[in-house]
Amino acid sequence: MGETTVTTYAAAQEVLRNQDMHQALYDAGAQVMGDALITLHGDAHQRRRMMEMTVFNRGFFRNYEHVVFPATLQPLLAPLVAVGEMDLVTFGYRVTMNLTADFAGIDRLEDNAEETDALLTLVKKFSEGATMVHTTRDAQALRDEVDAAMETFEQRFLAPSRARRLALVEAFERGELNESALPRDVLATLLRNRHSHPLADDVFCREITFYLQAGAHSTANSVVHALHEIFTWRAANPDLWAAHAEDAVFIQRCVHESLRLNPASPVAWRRAACPMHVADQAFQQDQRVVVDLHAANRDPAVFGDDASEFNPLRSTDANAWGLSFGYGVHACLGRTLDGGVLFTEKTNPENHQYGIVTLLVRTLLAQGVRPHPTKQPIDDASTTRENWSSYPVIFSRSTP
Ligand code: HEM
Repeated sequence: MGETTVTTYAAAQEVLRNQDMHQALYDAGAQVMGDALITLHGDAHQRRRMMEMTVFNRGFFRNYEHVVFPATLQPLLAPLVAVGEMDLVTFGYRVTMNLTADFAGIDRLEDNAEETDALLTLVKKFSEGATMVHTTRDAQALRDEVDAAMETFEQRFLAPSRARRLALVEAFERGELNESALPRDVLATLLRNRHSHPLADDVFCREITFYLQAGAHSTANSVVHALHEIFTWRAANPDLWAAHAEDAVFIQRCVHESLRLNPASPVAWRRAACPMHVADQAFQQDQRVVVDLHAANRDPAVFGDDASEFNPLRSTDANAWGLSFGYGVHACLGRTLDGGVLFTEKTNPENHQYGIVTLLVRTLLAQGVRPHPTKQPIDDASTTRENWSSYPVIFSRSTP
């Protein structure tokens, strides 16, 4: 069956909001993603999405950004600033590990660096398995590693987190506990709905690993890309940077502009469930549609003639981040958490929700982060996605 690629913003939107265009990107990653929310369609997708959406509430996000997350960030960052240098990729994954574990519902009972690193190693393996379609490695070797990671994850992390939540949910159901005492995460939500929405053990496990890797991989890479774009732009535009550097809203715009240019997933794949006409094109049943988010986000008809350039001062009527958080049926549930809310004239900058990526970028800029003068960034050779495996930075307060 042939393959069609859509590259314009309007056509991409039409395909992504069409209910009969089914998810197809993770077919090769079924070992990690099989029956996870993002692979479902129709009623099954709608029911699970509605259930899990209850975790992703705007008020809850604001508290998470202003109170919960800064409290985990500072102890991780302070020793690195004291040393004076770090690897941005390692740091990005380490901090976002806490973020996605909080939302997925995975406890870190030992609360030490070894435990976070162990979870991180597992999640990186899940990400690699989920994006198997982009791998440049031997596929069977990768599958074996993913199997082993899944088993370790189940025993060390999922089983205790699940047992603790089940005990709390059962106490709540017996009327011994207030609802407010229940954890607010995907794992607890699945357990509360275990009778109306039962999931087989393996699906249950993959749903949680999907949440862990979906949030960690994209958030970590978005932070690195945003800082890379800022480093490049401020070197070329020192006066403009000096005028805006302290403006949190401007930094949020830099992050959105970087998200637009560097979508964590450069393509979305769909398969036509029936013969259809979408965006002025005819599609046969089972035809694969590649939605080129990277190209659509650079559509000059929407973002202007300089659409391919990083310009945080651009104004556009479209979403500042383009389609990088997806659109339509599978639109990202973590969008407001990571990307924040768009600033308007009525917004109060003091309690505005800037998003976790902007929070991380601002925190690092405030510590004088800049590219390492002698150590170069290294491309991630394990994937065809444009990411770095290492991005060395230093902390220095001298003028860039
Ligand atoms: C900068 C960070 C992020 C980016 C760029 C991003 C991007 C995306 C994209 C493009 C999709 C749609 C994929 C498709 O249409 O095939 C998606 C879906 C999703 N994302 Fe994110 N994401 C980010 C962070 C997060 C976080 C932190 C979470 C959760 C804690 C999350 C949860 C989800 C979920 C649950 C879906 C699937 C929704 C569904 O299938 O109905 N994402 N994300």
